[in-house]
Amino acid sequence: MLHLGAELHVLLHGLLRTYGDFVRWRGFHDVYLVNHPDFIRPILTRDYRHFSKRTIDYRVLAQIMGNGLVTNDGPHWIQQRKLIQPMFGNHRVNGFDGTINTLTSSLMDEWETRAGGETLRIDREMSRLTFRIVGATLFGSDLKRHGDEIAEILEVANLSPLEIRALMTLCSWVPTPYNLKWRRAVRRLDEIVYGLIQARRRRGVGHEDILDHLIHALDESGYEGMDVKQMRDEVVTLMLAGHETSANALAWTLYLLSAHPDVEARLTESLDATLNGAPATADDLPRVPYLKQVVQESMRLYPPVWSYVRRAERQEEFNGCLLPAGAHVIIVPYSLHRHPEFWPDPERFDPGRFDPNAGEGRHPFSYLPFAAGPRTCIGAGMAMLETQLVLAQILQRFKVRMVPEHRIETTGKVTLKPRYGILATLSRRPAVRLRKPSAPG
Ligand code: HEM
Repeated sequence: MLHLGAELHVLLHGLLRTYGDFVRWRGFHDVYLVNHPDFIRPILTRDYRHFSKRTIDYRVLAQIMGNGLVTNDGPHWIQQRKLIQPMFGNHRVNGFDGTINTLTSSLMDEWETRAGGETLRIDREMSRLTFRIVGATLFGSDLKRHGDEIAEILEVANLSPLEIRALMTLCSWVPTPYNLKWRRAVRRLDEIVYGLIQARRRRGVGHEDILDHLIHALDESGYEGMDVKQMRDEVVTLMLAGHETSANALAWTLYLLSAHPDVEARLTESLDATLNGAPATADDLPRVPYLKQVVQESMRLYPPVWSYVRRAERQEEFNGCLLPAGAHVIIVPYSLHRHPEFWPDPERFDPGRFDPNAGEGRHPFSYLPFAAGPRTCIGAGMAMLETQLVLAQILQRFKVRMVPEHRIETTGKVTLKPRYGILATLSRRPAVRLRKPSAPG
C-alpha cells in the first residue's frame, strides 16, 4: 500500500511495485520513474549524451560541489573526467591499501578502550574513518589540522536535494536561518580548501596524492580546462562523493552482519583462515571472495546512492512508452535492487547471490550501486577496496552488536542513511592476534 507520508525512496519503490517499470509522476516537473534494466541500459550507456544532468538536484548539489565531476556535463565534463581518471586506475588505487589499513588500525586502537560495553554510533564512526581515508588519499597528511572541521561542514550539506531547506540554497541571498548557516559553511570550506591548494603549490608537488596530480594539470601540462576554482570544485566533489557513500556502505554492512550471525560466522572464519589476524592487503582480497560478496549484497539492499536523476534532452521511447523531451528521469537502485524478476525473495540478505557461479545470466543492469556507462562512479574501485579492508580489520578484532531496542530505519538524503543512526556495542574477539599494518609506502 502506498503511504504518502513515507520517505521518498520508500514511496518511489511503492509506486514502481504498484504500477510497473515505467511510471509517470506528475508534479512540479513531469517525472518518470524507470525501473527495468533494459530501459536503464541505454540511458546510462549508448544514449547518455541525451540524458543530461540539467536537473534541480544537481543544481542544489552544485551549490557546494561547484562544477566538479558529479555536477559537470558536456564536453568540459569529458575533458575533466579524462584528466582525473588515471588517478583512479587499479594500480594507483590498490597502492592506497597501506594508508587505509593504518588509518583503520588507529581507529581500532581507539575502539579497544571502548570495548567494555560502551555504546557507539557506528554510522558516525564509519563517517569519521572514511573521511580520514579520502582526506589522506587526496591531500596526504595536509588535511590533519582541518579534517574534523571539514567533516562537520560537509555534514551540513547531506540533505535530500529536494528538501525545502536544500532547495532554498538556490536563492542563497534570502537570509533564512539555514541559508545563513549554509553560506558560512561554504565560505569556511572555501577558505580551507583554497588555503590547502595554495600551500601545496608553494611547497611544490612530490607527495603522490591526488592533489599533486591536479596541481600538475593546473601548473605544468598546459591544459586550459582547469583554473583554481575548478580545482577547488574537483577536490570538494571528491571529498563529498567519496566519504558518506563508503561510510554508509560500511555501517549498513555491520548492521546486517550483526543481524545475520550465520553470515558473520562464515565470513570471520574465512578471514581468520586466510589472514590469520593480519590486515588484508589489496592482493589478499581475491583469497577471501566471501568478503566482497557480503559488501555487494549489503549495497543491494542499502545502495548508498539510492537514486540518480537525468533530464531527457530529446524525446525517447521505451518499449512503446513515450518519454517527452525535458522530462526528468529517476533511476532508483533502492527499487531496482528489489525487483522480484531479477532478485527472488528480494528482502532476504543472502551474499550467496553474488557467488560468481550464482549470478550467471542475471541482467547486468539489475545491480547498479555505482551507476554504469561513461558516468559510472570514478571511485568504485577505491570504494570496494576500502570497504573490504576496513571490514577485514573490524571483524577480526571485534564483535559488533546492535543495541536491541534502538530503531533502525532508512532515510533518503543524498545518501541512504540510518534515520536514527546505528547504535552498537563492541566486544573484543578472543584469541585473534592482529599484526600491525606496515607503514604506507
Ligand atoms: C560505496 C561507495 C560509493 C558509491 C555507492 C558510489 C556511487 C556513485 C554513483 C551511483 C555515482 C553516479 C551518480 C550520478 O550519476 O549522479 C557516482 C559518481 C561519482 N562518484 Fe561515487 N560512489 C562511492 C564512492 C566514491 C568514492 C570513494 C569516490 C572518490 C574518492 C567517488 C567519486 C565519485 C565521482 C567523482 C562521481 C562522478 C563521476 C562522473 O560523473 O564523472 N565515489 N558514485
